[in-house]
Amino acid sequence: MSEEEGEGAEKPRYETLEDLPGIGPSTAQKLRELGFHTVESLAMATVRELEPAGISEKKALAIISAARSSIGIAFIRADELLKMRQNVLRLTTGSKALDKLLDGGLETQTITEFYGEYGSGKSQICHQLCVNVQLPPERGGLNGAALYIDTENTFRTERIVQMARHLGLDPQNVVKNIIYAEAYTSDHQMFLLENADEVIKENNVKLIIVDSLTAHFRSEYLGREMLAARQQKLNKHMHKLIRLARAFNAVAVVTNQVMAKPDMFFGDAIHPVGGHIVGHTSHTRIYLRRASHSPVRVARLVSSPYLPEGEEIFKITENGIEDISEEEKTKSSGR
Ligand code: GTP
Ligand code: MG
Repeated sequence: MSEEEGEGAEKPRYETLEDLPGIGPSTAQKLRELGFHTVESLAMATVRELEPAGISEKKALAIISAARSSIGIAFIRADELLKMRQNVLRLTTGSKALDKLLDGGLETQTITEFYGEYGSGKSQICHQLCVNVQLPPERGGLNGAALYIDTENTFRTERIVQMARHLGLDPQNVVKNIIYAEAYTSDHQMFLLENADEVIKENNVKLIIVDSLTAHFRSEYLGREMLAARQQKLNKHMHKLIRLARAFNAVAVVTNQVMAKPDMFFGDAIHPVGGHIVGHTSHTRIYLRRASHSPVRVARLVSSPYLPEGEEIFKITENGIEDISEEEKTKSSGR
């Protein structure tokens, strides 16, 4: 966000929690325990979330509004929303075709969900994005670092090294700019994200990945009677993610497995785990599947706030995510 956007109005800039009006050392301590380490995260907080720190509704409103004005977001006028929208940046996937499907790449400030079955390439795309985000804007990157929350222990440094080399980047540097956290349970996964704001700020993280969003939830919350509790938690988790993405103008990516619905005989029987709640909060959803030729993948843009549905193909090779040649395209057109 540029400094000139204040239109003459002097906006106070707060660096730490203690700088905000009405926050003393003990309140700051309590807020940190609740996972609010930065002014940015407070700007995206709700009044109710600050309650456990012993903050009254009136005071919470004042703190949140001061934090918002400090980082230049106040949800008051449509023109300001437009301004936020103008700050949206795009991150390349590494495939021109896939970028085209997404109108230029993955957007900051929103969540992009990749879903598909085993081996469809969800984690490979996540790895590639961790490398690409470090590229300069002229190469489709965001000059930033990545945060990778891994729930299935599938992150591989060796794969990052391969992809970095292919792009002519120093693998050692690239690896250093990926902050990795393994989540052992769904609660741990939520805890990691709830406490991520400081790490994001300090490391200039521009890409936040949760791979996989739903695996722990799926294995821990079994049966119909636990469905409501699961959805509520998933919803909270996704909202935390979207707020971080907005506060730090970062790209957020989640992956999701698919579930075949045995009771459905017609239509598309493949459904992402998490159903409607995940669908509503994740703004862009892409369904990945293998084509008949093994390195080739089909990406289908299933929903987006403003882009039309569509399909593109790409491939996963030694180098990472790449476009396929015209020749390969004709070969795979029988998919
Ligand atoms: P789950 O997490 O199990 O649901 O699958 P996923 O969608 O995350 O699959 P993932 O992204 O891990 O894709 C794995 C596939 O990517 C493999 O089956 C390979 O086809 C391909 N792949 C992974 N690494 C390499 C590599 O180094 N070289 C090549 N050529 N292909 C690779
Ligand atoms: Mg995976």
